[in-house]
Amino acid sequence: MIPIARPQVGDPEIENVVHVLRSGMLAGGRFVNDFEGAFADYTGTTYAVATTSGTVALDIALKALGIENGDEVVVPDFTFNATANAVLFQDAKPVFTDVERDTFCIDPNDVLEKISPRTKAIIGVHLFGHPFELSAIQDICEDHQLALIEDCAQAHGAEYTGRTVGSFGTVGCFSFYATKNMTTGEGGMVTTDDPEIGERLRLLINHGQSRKYSHTTLGYNYRMTDIQAAIGVAQLGRLDEFNRKRIGNAEYLNSHLDAPLKTPYKKDNIKHVYHQYVIKIGEEFPMMRDEFIRYLSDNGIGSAVHYPLPVHRQPLYQEMGYERDQCRCATRLSETVISLPVHPLVTDGDLKHICSIINGVS
Ligand SMILES: Cc1ncc(COP(=O)(O)O)c(C=O)c1O
Repeated sequence: MIPIARPQVGDPEIENVVHVLRSGMLAGGRFVNDFEGAFADYTGTTYAVATTSGTVALDIALKALGIENGDEVVVPDFTFNATANAVLFQDAKPVFTDVERDTFCIDPNDVLEKISPRTKAIIGVHLFGHPFELSAIQDICEDHQLALIEDCAQAHGAEYTGRTVGSFGTVGCFSFYATKNMTTGEGGMVTTDDPEIGERLRLLINHGQSRKYSHTTLGYNYRMTDIQAAIGVAQLGRLDEFNRKRIGNAEYLNSHLDAPLKTPYKKDNIKHVYHQYVIKIGEEFPMMRDEFIRYLSDNGIGSAVHYPLPVHRQPLYQEMGYERDQCRCATRLSETVISLPVHPLVTDGDLKHICSIINGVS
């Protein structure tokens, strides 16, 4: 079976982890510092704070921004649940906005409809590796004095107008879960250029300690271990190579798939890093989606649906009373998308096989 996702780890990661294990400094050693420094350099930001997951990165970013009960945060309806849940963690309200039909990313026109006097921030998600329309969303944030959180969990190394994502917003939040463009197994990072926010993030991940045993604020233990950071340093060094392979795989699929389906759209001024290769199948496609997934599986091809429901239709949000009929584009996408393998370990032979099986649908 060609898996839908598979992390690429090898000698550089193994050597770094062995180094940590032999050093005895499993936490609080030099690798977390090194990883944070290298990540800040890579994203062109001043501060990078490593943490335990992408969900925690979003959580502490919102806490550092002072989001609290009574506040609203505008969130795209088509994303992984964690994006919206992080707003609930603050006792604040996620307000769902629709997404663009082509890029699947937050739709600036709909965002304008969702802003109220209670809105404090917008979270944009660079979904599947395609940066969202940063310039339009930045303008909205400026006009309405809102914080901008970039959810970069799926877009390490993606670029907008030649600049790396994670460097545009008030904060950028990354995930290093095992299937991401780079991994630490589990892990996360928050980037920012704001020294006050950088300082607050540091306190939040480390028990609110400004000095050892001096707890100036309510904090947590959300620190990354040196074992994770050792993997991260090695992965970051290979990220561009991983992304080149993803892009090459996506370009092959774009030019060789000729079944009646929509291949991923890419805007001109961006670098898409294909965290997922998401196609759309409509009425003209000869199979229903479930049947197509079975057909792919029977032919040794893994696939997945990202995402089978828009977030507002998740049982959690329905129970909270969110209106069922909203965000029509996100809802329609959830019925028509399907992700195909694009990760760096997909071989040329795999790509040929995927195309010949899909082009053979009837
Ligand atoms: C868009 C998005 N945001 C946030 C997260 C949460 O990251 P983590 O799984 O590291 O907690 C993910 C993870 O899949 C994600 O895809």
